[in-house]
Amino acid sequence: MINGPNLNMLGSRSPEHYGNRTLSDIETTLRIRADNLAIGLNFFQSNHEGDIVDFIQTTNTYASGIIINAGALTHYSLSVRDALVDTKLPIVEIHLSNIHGREPFRRHSVIADIADVQIAGLGWAGYLFALEHITFAIRRKN
Ligand code: DQA
Repeated sequence: MINGPNLNMLGSRSPEHYGNRTLSDIETTLRIRADNLAIGLNFFQSNHEGDIVDFIQTTNTYASGIIINAGALTHYSLSVRDALVDTKLPIVEIHLSNIHGREPFRRHSVIADIADVQIAGLGWAGYLFALEHITFAIRRKN
């Protein structure tokens, strides 16, 4: 599960859009659910585009799928998009807020068409749905 720029500030950052939970709260909840589903889960967050690309490039050696909230990179990072495509892994794009109901520049995602699904507007619970989806997608394939 990859989180991009500024998502390390969850809890204090624009709670009207992103809620009150910290990223660490969300990761704790996800870890419990992942254990429950008997699926391995790695967490990565960075504010740096290149570090995210570097991380994505490592994933196909051990991962079966990627859940990504690329933050603002969602709207313009072709290098993140290209790295995701190159993994050939199933991708779930997730946003806490409903990006389609906010400023026009947030409505376009350069990842949406290469993702299996986009989840937006469900707050932190969207990460849980993302985990459920990717788990069942992986198991259906195997
Ligand atoms: C976000 C939406 C993006 O537009 C924004 O730049 C973020 C968070 C979300 O989770 O709703 O950083 O990805």
